[in-house]
Amino acid sequence: MGVSLISVFNHKGGTGKSSTVCMLSYAFERSVTVGLIDFDPQRTLTSLTEINETFKLPLLENVSKPSQIAKLSQRVIIVDMPPYIIDGALDILKASNLVIMPCKPSIVDAVATIKTYEYIQDNTEVKAVCLLNMVQKSTTITNEVKNVLKEQGVPLLNAALGQRVVYAKALSYGTNIYKAGNRLAVAELDQLAQEILTHLI
Ligand SMILES: Nc1ncnc2c1ncn2[C@@H]1O[C@H](COP(=O)(O)OP(=O)(O)O)[C@@H](O)[C@H]1O
Ligand SMILES: [Mg+2]
Repeated sequence: MGVSLISVFNHKGGTGKSSTVCMLSYAFERSVTVGLIDFDPQRTLTSLTEINETFKLPLLENVSKPSQIAKLSQRVIIVDMPPYIIDGALDILKASNLVIMPCKPSIVDAVATIKTYEYIQDNTEVKAVCLLNMVQKSTTITNEVKNVLKEQGVPLLNAALGQRVVYAKALSYGTNIYKAGNRLAVAELDQLAQEILTHLI
């Protein structure tokens, strides 16, 4: 089986794209080889590894084109996309096996996610799914957002990521959730990784 390309994209900033890339990398590396591409000119993931030497991510340097990605030996490549279309971004989306659109449980995020989904539908043949991120327990807004997305035909992953300090810490210090031993976070990340793998088969 060749390399599977996952792009993490949403037209809105702050929805958890870079966090999702980072967490998925920790989850996937337990069972498959993973490489990451920082395609965002803001260079969030790259700068984190530069600021903090203990922040280890399998970032690939100088790989940005589908033709280069196709030659890689890793099983899964995950791309951290910017919140807008830059040069080469559409090529990456088109070459993806799956686009994950993180979305916070808020109506503004839902609207941005619907627009992102429409853009992907209009411009590619690729399957795109929404990942609810920063979900808080005992709030009704998550269900409202789910309903808005469903009404607009946006596919939703069953797995979701909660609003957790451990995720914010992971993105700040490179704390590997699996090594930090946070049971709830590990459980939801495992579920997410499993579900994504079923989309790639
Ligand atoms: N599930 C989560 N729980 C807690 N904090 C989160 C979660 N997801 C993202 N964050 C925080 O939200 C902020 C924005 O996340 P980030 O991944 O940088 O978004 P994006 O890449 O979409 O701009 C960061 O400070 C990050 O630590
Ligand atoms: Mg980012």
